[in-house]
Amino acid sequence: MWTKEALHALIDEKLRDHKLIIVANREPYIHQYDGDKIKCIKPASGMATALDPIVRACGGIWVGHGSGNADRKMVDDRDHVQVPPNDPRYTLRRVWLTKEQEERYYYGLANEGLWPLCHITFTRPVFSPQCWETYREVNALFARAVVEEAGNRPAFVFIQDYHFALLPRLLKNANPNLVVAQFWHIPWPNREVFRVFPWGEELLDGLLGNDLLGFHLRYHCQNFLDTVDRAIEAKVDQERSEITRQGKVTVVRPFPISIDYEWHIEMARSAEVDAEMARWRHQLGLGEKILGIGIERMDYTKGIPERLRAVSHFLEKYPHYRERLLFVQIAVPSRTHVPHYQHLEEEVDRLVEQINWKWRTDCWEPIVLLKQHFDQTHMIALHRLSHFAIVSSLHDGMNLVAKEYVASRFDERGMLVLSQFTGTARELTDALLVNPYSVEEMAEGIRLALEMPEAERRRRMQKMRSAVANNNVYRWAGKAVSALLRFDFPENA
Ligand code: G6P
Repeated sequence: MWTKEALHALIDEKLRDHKLIIVANREPYIHQYDGDKIKCIKPASGMATALDPIVRACGGIWVGHGSGNADRKMVDDRDHVQVPPNDPRYTLRRVWLTKEQEERYYYGLANEGLWPLCHITFTRPVFSPQCWETYREVNALFARAVVEEAGNRPAFVFIQDYHFALLPRLLKNANPNLVVAQFWHIPWPNREVFRVFPWGEELLDGLLGNDLLGFHLRYHCQNFLDTVDRAIEAKVDQERSEITRQGKVTVVRPFPISIDYEWHIEMARSAEVDAEMARWRHQLGLGEKILGIGIERMDYTKGIPERLRAVSHFLEKYPHYRERLLFVQIAVPSRTHVPHYQHLEEEVDRLVEQINWKWRTDCWEPIVLLKQHFDQTHMIALHRLSHFAIVSSLHDGMNLVAKEYVASRFDERGMLVLSQFTGTARELTDALLVNPYSVEEMAEGIRLALEMPEAERRRRMQKMRSAVANNNVYRWAGKAVSALLRFDFPENA
């Protein structure tokens, strides 16, 4: 089994002479003013949550956008700050963007263009030439920062996600000795869908600067190979899952991401979480009620309206659960500047009002909507208190909330109603798998979660927990590093 120590040992042995540089748009620690004090928060990002323990274990540098309003206050003259603030393990290098750059590169191209393009949720992507121009500009800005951080030492650069499709090529052009890998945390669409992207050739060429390109699923790798095969001049070797362009090879591999399972269990067993459970019980007036939960960013890929309708349908069909069921939905504000996200928030507010109005009695209403950020302790406490959790993404590369939920349940209770359109559904086959577009199936999923015999619930939970324990996040990173070592490390060849 992969552990933090095993990953550390691998990196120490094989990458000893290399600097490890992680690039991700979202920084793992954000400094923000709270009145005249500065507080440090961890963002609601599956990507950042997964990567942070790895960089903690291995040391290195994380290059990311300094997005907090107190971020500049905390860095030294090289824009470095050591993190985590109370137990420094690695360096965060903040890159500054102007408002216009943030608007066009992050909100525009990445989140109004690539995000809906890659997720099949029937949300129309927007492609603006100005945003593409700025996306190029910001990729070049990050390339300069990475090259500067690498200096003249050999370095292994590990890029995250769809914000940096052009970065690999720019890095290789600037310094061919850099070893460059990238992980695409969201799905890769099929080639029919991708072909509407107006700058497809340039984007694919950028990605083929990578030595290794990872996706969660083999299916996404296959989509990528097909896309390249159709769109640009390159030799695609389907059998070896490799692409050669202008003599340079990019290896394409699936690496399903995960969580730090051991850490998670330790937290779940902690006195802090016990205290939070008591606080939630009091805050929600839980008493003997049955608790269902949903936790995610307020994002249209997550199927929040679909889930709320399913809760309402469940109450319609099974009246004896009225006044007994409480469904707590945490929807962390996200990308609120993008119109699709604003519309979603309005829709969710409206639905919660309608559903609560429909079922409300003197002493009860079914849905509690909390639109705010909570730290891990609060969320793990909710996991532990709940009878079931719903993850109803319409499409999701992986979904770590589902894995966190089962990791928190060391008591082997609770149940997970999980969308079949998440990458996680391929691993957690013992969850109650549903089609989130079917209100009937989802309502039935809730009923089954609540009425499942105890032995069956335990059996399913045990199997799901061992799937997460075996495929933890250190395995994800270890496999990516091992794949890279086999193919492309000049020093280790
Ligand atoms: C997804 C993406 C991450 C991103 C996260 C939060 O998980 O794959 O790259 O960090 O969403 O989104 P945000 O735009 O707030 O970083």
